[in-house]
Amino acid sequence: MKVLNLYFSATGNTDKVAKQIEETVRQAGHEVETVRIAKNIEPDILAFDLVFAGSGVYMWLPGKPVLESFDKLREKYANSGVIKPASPRRPGKKAVVYCTYGGFHTGVNEAISTTKFMGQLFDHLGYDIIGEWHIVAEYHGKLQHLSAGGRLGNIQGRPNAADLQEISEKVVGILQV
Ligand SMILES: Cc1cc2nc3c(=O)[nH]c(=O)nc-3n(C[C@H](O)[C@H](O)[C@H](O)COP(=O)(O)O)c2cc1C
Repeated sequence: MKVLNLYFSATGNTDKVAKQIEETVRQAGHEVETVRIAKNIEPDILAFDLVFAGSGVYMWLPGKPVLESFDKLREKYANSGVIKPASPRRPGKKAVVYCTYGGFHTGVNEAISTTKFMGQLFDHLGYDIIGEWHIVAEYHGKLQHLSAGGRLGNIQGRPNAADLQEISEKVVGILQV
């Protein structure tokens, strides 16, 4: 099975999760390509059977590079007829979408729109979405003070070792689907 580990991380949290995914997939004996989303990155998604796609949450959506690159990919696949009317399934093709988020105001509701948004690219391509993960992660930089006192309480230091261990266990589960 060929696995694509696609992610964007501005402040390092999603980077930790993506590294954990890469390590776990490799240890399980699968080929994995990790691609950090940046301007003009257009991975050949259809070359992969399983895609993990992740981003931090920025005002309820993935980061700008994800918005821009997914828009380009959607356009490319729509114009070339790869995205078909009614998006028929592509047997054997699966995707997991995830985000890291702080949830200061409304908790996980700030993250759900991000995974729904990201999932749509793969769903349009006919991939089955077999996981939507919302991973609690601290705020960095100017918003560091939001890592305590909000809807999710004290989230300093997250994702922590236990969060990353949970990711590994879920990846092992996904590899069996
Ligand atoms: C400028 C900024 C805006 C953010 N906006 C939100 C938000 O709307 N909702 C939320 O739950 N978390 C928000 N966060 C927290 C981030 O989603 C969280 O820290 C995430 O793990 C960042 O991922 P990254 O380090 O991989 O970029 C924000 C963080 C920053 C720095």
